[in-house]
Amino acid sequence: MARKIYVFDTTLRDGEQVPGAKLNKRQKLEIAEQLALLGVDVIEAGFPCSSPEDLQAVKAVAEQVKGPIIAGLARAVKEDIDAAWEAVKSAEKPRIHVFLGSSDIHLQKKLRRDRESALEQAVEMVKYAKKYCEDVEYSTEDASRTDFDYLCRVVESVIKAGATVVNIPDTVGYAIPEEFGDLIKRLKEKVPALDNVILSVHCHNDLGLAVANTLAAIRNGAQQVECTINGIGERAGNAALEEIVMALKVRPQHYDAYTEINTREIYKTSRMVSRTMNIPVQPNKAIVGANAFAHSSGIHQDGILKDRRTYEIMKPEDVGIKDHKLVLTARSGRAALRHQLIQVGFNLSEEQFERVYQRFLNVADRKKEVTSEDLITIVEVELTKVPETFSFHSLQIMSGNTIVPMASVTLLRGEEKITESAIGNGPVDAVFRSIEKIIKKSAKLRDYDLKAVTTGTDALAEAMVRVEIDDTIFSGIGTSPDVVEASARAYVNAFNRYFAAENGFNGLEKI
Ligand code: KIV
Ligand code: ZN
Repeated sequence: MARKIYVFDTTLRDGEQVPGAKLNKRQKLEIAEQLALLGVDVIEAGFPCSSPEDLQAVKAVAEQVKGPIIAGLARAVKEDIDAAWEAVKSAEKPRIHVFLGSSDIHLQKKLRRDRESALEQAVEMVKYAKKYCEDVEYSTEDASRTDFDYLCRVVESVIKAGATVVNIPDTVGYAIPEEFGDLIKRLKEKVPALDNVILSVHCHNDLGLAVANTLAAIRNGAQQVECTINGIGERAGNAALEEIVMALKVRPQHYDAYTEINTREIYKTSRMVSRTMNIPVQPNKAIVGANAFAHSSGIHQDGILKDRRTYEIMKPEDVGIKDHKLVLTARSGRAALRHQLIQVGFNLSEEQFERVYQRFLNVADRKKEVTSEDLITIVEVELTKVPETFSFHSLQIMSGNTIVPMASVTLLRGEEKITESAIGNGPVDAVFRSIEKIIKKSAKLRDYDLKAVTTGTDALAEAMVRVEIDDTIFSGIGTSPDVVEASARAYVNAFNRYFAAENGFNGLEKI
């Protein structure tokens, strides 16, 4: 009979360790609610001891998100375990996740201790966590580089101390599939007590093998997989949730295992994580990349038109990507827009709808047609808003290869229209300089990313910026069919986040 594989999502913890991807409480809650809709079994919501803000964010997730187990990470020390329990104790199903290095390199160089004393500490801390919480997960950090006999002793001892889940991480992405699968098999043979707990794996992607290693572990008896949306995480990232889940779904005979993930929520979750954490998804990314279901060569298109199974091993609808093309234009009325919004998963209130409608008209005025991808972007941009201290009104640019680029920008501050102009290295630079003149504040541009979120020369462009203002990084997003306008909107959005933080605004307004 097919085995259920538990999906442990660590987007909000290992994923959040990506530089610049820090989330506030509201953002964590929003992603956690979506992960619950996606149907993950466990949400690792954070590392509560790492900061008071993270403790509060994990606590909010524990209090409000129903369905999945809510886990908090802790080093194998009392202080961390206390913080983790404080954060998760009000969850419907709380879990404390304790970890300690087990490889010689970690023990000798990082922890500066011997194997025996580390083993004692592991046992003692599992017992300590157990006083608070029935569900305790123990991770043998750097397991794939740990001496096998010692690893078996640690696993056996923590189970005896009360661990309910034992996690075997390939912390540095060193393992290769045959070897990692074999490690799981040998562990199960050597430690029979593993039959009474959940055996988990957690693979990093340094050699691009995180998903392959995870699947090899499933073949050899692992019951829980730790992964992140879009594969984000430390360094090269973690195993991508969507890839593991779809491999099991597309190849059930091979794995004889399944997850309870609602795969139709995958794409929406991927977009939300990318946008909120400011980490773009590469176009050729399996399952969720912009090209994952795009067929460009004539031979492929011909095959697809005859029978989609010639070049498609899964349906885009199965991961929540609508394959039919929506034809919404400026002449589409409210009813058509509402219908299409529901089709792409947004059931908005009247007030929310009106705001989206106004933005839609603005885009539709300049595009021949507004596709379902355009629509998702429009709604997502409208979904997370900070108060608009300044709002974009209009811009003009003069640019070319023989003149110094110049821009004139008008922003609104309440009712007041303010216009300034500036020169720059290029049109976008000139626009940014003009905005700074209006706002009377300068920013250092740390990151700038511009992409077409839909296809065609009239595609909707999305600009993402990360700017440093007064030593703090703020991100901003802007969309428009015009790339310079998208950039200007993103820059203003980043400044608005700065003002929101200055004014003690502690969360995003969700429409
Ligand atoms: O990669 C790792 O080993 C971890 C542990 C904390 C599970 O993230
Ligand atoms: Zn990790």
